[in-house]
Amino acid sequence: MKTEGFRMEPLDLTLPRDFLWGVATSAYQIEGAVSEDGRTASIWDTFCRVPGAVAGGETGDTACDHYHRMPQDVALIAGLGVDAYRFSLSWPRIQPGGKGPANPRGLAFYDRLVDELLAKGIRPWITLYHWDLPQELEDNGGWPARDTAERFADYAELCVRQLGDRVRWWTTLNEPWCSAVLGYELGIHAPGRNDRGDSLAAVHHLLLGHGLAAQRLRAAAGHPVQVGITLNTTHAIPADDRPASVAAAHHADGLGTRLYLDPLVHGRYPADVVDALHRENVHLPLHDGDLADIAQPLDFLGVNYYTSHVVGADGPVRRDLPRTAMDWEIHPEGLTDHLVRLGRDYPGLPLYVTENGAAFDEPAPSGGEVADPRRTAYLDAHLRAVAAAHAQGADVRGYFAWSLMDNFEWAEGYAKRFGLVHVDYPTQRRTLKQSARWYAATVARSRA
Ligand code: FCB
Repeated sequence: MKTEGFRMEPLDLTLPRDFLWGVATSAYQIEGAVSEDGRTASIWDTFCRVPGAVAGGETGDTACDHYHRMPQDVALIAGLGVDAYRFSLSWPRIQPGGKGPANPRGLAFYDRLVDELLAKGIRPWITLYHWDLPQELEDNGGWPARDTAERFADYAELCVRQLGDRVRWWTTLNEPWCSAVLGYELGIHAPGRNDRGDSLAAVHHLLLGHGLAAQRLRAAAGHPVQVGITLNTTHAIPADDRPASVAAAHHADGLGTRLYLDPLVHGRYPADVVDALHRENVHLPLHDGDLADIAQPLDFLGVNYYTSHVVGADGPVRRDLPRTAMDWEIHPEGLTDHLVRLGRDYPGLPLYVTENGAAFDEPAPSGGEVADPRRTAYLDAHLRAVAAAHAQGADVRGYFAWSLMDNFEWAEGYAKRFGLVHVDYPTQRRTLKQSARWYAATVARSRA
């Protein structure tokens, strides 16, 4: 019954009239064409070839073949009626090897993409780094090496010099927690290292890279640009009110939220987190002046939210809540609370939900449709949660559904489908899921 109701009934939300609606993707997850037009390898190209690293031994070699189907995909976005498209630039396409001059053929692809979007009235929302570090930079130490932050700032400048005349919205990094922790500590993501010290050094150099890039973006654009960062901050809920549980949740929040936002916004690392890390003998490679470089003014904060984390004295607690195919619990109230909390602790920062969505096991297209009621229900509940946060005072100004289409879900390969649009990989045929039609109707209604 409930599912029936969700099928096509668009949501009617109380949100500002200029609330920004969008869909999101990232370069390595959709583009394919990994050796074309001068692109060199990224850490993901390398990692995908490590036996056992990615489910099914899959790679981004072809992905959604977006590199060759870009105009058709932009038409798809336009068909949804959204205002904005969040996508990332491939560093090894634009600056092969991670240093030196720009590769004109790589840049030309993004030139065409930006022009195509603008011609259809869609705002390009660029992410400079969504995890595809040029392999040469990893060979020189990767994010644990300070030099990578400088290289990132150079790359940012190349990008804004080429695209800054048409693109106003620039996000430096996507989810530095994932780059640092999944990539350098847990080894689940590229480059697959397992070193807590490297991971903490990566955190610092990612944030430094953000700050240096923000300065270069503003200086080189030649006109005002909006510069921000997207984080997957941790919404940590204490399992109960015992002091040990409250302390454990506070520590999880420290590692997942404050370790990033405190230096970015307040220009200092959180003392409790730094002390705890010292006790484990891991240290931030902090130089004089770094915090001032990191704490550049932010025009917006991108928030990626999928799930909440319940933490007790003995570690994570598994609640009896419905879960997605990623085994992430579905907890829309967490999004409300988290947005309100970010607004309270980091005031003055316009918030955009830059990713939210879900993977479910769902049927293949039939009769030109994909029945994905659980995705529609998930989006419905989370959009209500966004509106509730707005009503409670959070300055949330936009929402991007993850993802425009099914794509390469990192270590999970292609099995986990997050798209509003179904992709049949052998034929590359795109089919709108019911959730896509519902999302388009909800966007249309919000403007009515
Ligand atoms: C986020 C990533 C995005 C996608 C979603 C499911 O952490 O930014 O690329 O993989 O998760």
